[in-house]
Amino acid sequence: MSTVDSFEKIPLRIFETIDEGSKFLAMEIAEMIRSKSAKGERCNLGLATGSSPKTLYAELVRMHRDEGLSFKYVVAFNLDEYYPIDNGALQSYDRFMKYHLFDKVDIDPKNCHIPNGEWKKDHIKRDCAAYEELIEKLGGIDLQILGIGTNGHIGFNEPGSSLYSKTRLVPLENSTRINNAPDFPSIADVPRLAITVGISTILKAKRILLMAWGQSKASVIQKSVEGNLTEQIPASLLQQHNDCLFVIDKLAATDLTRFKSPWLTGDCEWSPLIMKKAVVNMALKLGKPILSLTNSDYNDNGLSDLLVEKGDAYEINLQVFYLLRDSITGWPGGKPSGANPSLIERPEPFPKRCLIFSPHPDDDIISMGGTFMRLHDQGHNVHVAYQTSGNIAVTDEFVTRFVDFAVGFEELSGIDSTKSSRVLTEATAYLKNKRNSNMDSAEIRSIKGLIRRCEAKATCHYVGIGDSKIHFLNLPFYETGTIEKKPMGERDVIITMDLLKKIKPHQIYCAGDLADPHGTHKICLDIVFESMRRLKSSGENWVNDCWVWLYKGAWQEWDISEIEMAIPMSPDQVLKKRYGIFIHQSQKDMVPFQGTDSREFWQRAEDRNANTANLYAQLGLTKYAAIEAFVRWHY
Ligand code: F6R
Repeated sequence: MSTVDSFEKIPLRIFETIDEGSKFLAMEIAEMIRSKSAKGERCNLGLATGSSPKTLYAELVRMHRDEGLSFKYVVAFNLDEYYPIDNGALQSYDRFMKYHLFDKVDIDPKNCHIPNGEWKKDHIKRDCAAYEELIEKLGGIDLQILGIGTNGHIGFNEPGSSLYSKTRLVPLENSTRINNAPDFPSIADVPRLAITVGISTILKAKRILLMAWGQSKASVIQKSVEGNLTEQIPASLLQQHNDCLFVIDKLAATDLTRFKSPWLTGDCEWSPLIMKKAVVNMALKLGKPILSLTNSDYNDNGLSDLLVEKGDAYEINLQVFYLLRDSITGWPGGKPSGANPSLIERPEPFPKRCLIFSPHPDDDIISMGGTFMRLHDQGHNVHVAYQTSGNIAVTDEFVTRFVDFAVGFEELSGIDSTKSSRVLTEATAYLKNKRNSNMDSAEIRSIKGLIRRCEAKATCHYVGIGDSKIHFLNLPFYETGTIEKKPMGERDVIITMDLLKKIKPHQIYCAGDLADPHGTHKICLDIVFESMRRLKSSGENWVNDCWVWLYKGAWQEWDISEIEMAIPMSPDQVLKKRYGIFIHQSQKDMVPFQGTDSREFWQRAEDRNANTANLYAQLGLTKYAAIEAFVRWHY
């Protein structure tokens, strides 16, 4: 047994990307279906919903279409369903399965089983028992596909679910309701109950494949795979199964000991980055500045190997301290005629053409407002590209205020209401009759988009950027009118490549939100990466001189040991950034699809920037009021 094995109690396959992992899963499923149908046997599949299996189902649909994979012999049993919920509701798992898989393959609808959100409460125990019996009667699940919640739930078996649990009605944990809230108009609309198959039902499956993508799953994957078997982390109970495999991407693998602390799992290549990570983590854990770490600290914290390799704590401390010190600069575009440390931007050319990609109309100011202002104030040619309209995050009350203004303005100007523009007439009529519909009309969506566009423009003007440098890309993948977006498409890439070719930037900033596998930020990032790759391979020479810096979106910050460029801010700059964020009035106080964090955007930004500054100070560097952080992307 290798050291890695001794930490990991469930076998894992780790893939570079979600696509690769999903292809692997699809192949496994296809193989199972084919081998069973070749023998004329039925294949009982246990299926999951959520964001994780979408790419997998898309691949199965592709295999059905292009490779003739048939689902004729498949009987599907889904894990769970919200309760109560109408089968046809936008958020029901019944609709999800039809939309993503069942309606697109040749499965017999009679073979598609999902716990029913419309079951009557007084019969529900009987209905759940019948679901369980049907699985058994048909010979049990041959292959169970699972996702995992950030709290470790499998199906909707929340922490504390018994090992012996069967199909039943369960309350949803608040954290699950919050995680799933983006699919609903507001958190209040997320059902409090669900029907789920039990842990024992899952463990009876002959084979289990659990998938997890993205950094938000890294911690629970580590706990499930390396931690103790406990009902508090339901996925850890899979350690008991003798044919279970976790299929994850490299982001979901980041907290595994072999990646997080590779020096504990055997031989470790002490690259400067690994050394920085190990020493920074130890210093923060011990609450000591880097330069105060001693030989015994290294020995007591599993870093004796580093000590052996480098000789002495003093030497290592200095090297790590310099790495941290050299990531700090007040010159994000490089200091003209100044020698910058190699980690940070080149002094030449000066001024630089900088292009900030902002997925939504306020990410630029929220996540890198201080850097944005510095780049402009230091004389660089700063362009901003707003990638999506962000229209979904404007409330109906807010848009009504603008429509009322437009109607009142026309009255003031003496415009006869019968001659109002079509957009205004239709928007007024729509708002008057609006019921609790899930989707806005095209007119309302465009007005919502316009509101956000005006706010973004006002922010650019506040920073000092002129209209010719403000670009609204309105990428088509975003324009679905619902929270669910289309995948990256050819038009998205072409629009982005056109802008890049026009500006030929020396520096690009984008939201590096790798933790958000299906969200808007990740798709926006993929579009920039794809565009840059294509431009590079098509021989656009400027691409070789263009550095790409990644900032994190509103939700998190880079790990302190990963930061390659840290831009400090003074208290005045912090305030100036706050006022820039305030300009986005449609996003103040409360926005639809806010997610788990109830703080306003300016508060999140300030807390996060102050926190980074504090961490630098704790490690023994100068104490700044705030710091914005970036990591370079190499392509
Ligand atoms: C869904 C289900 C849940 C999800 C889990 C992860 O059928 O059973 O356990 O797999 O909540 O959801 P995503 O994939 O959205 O992160």
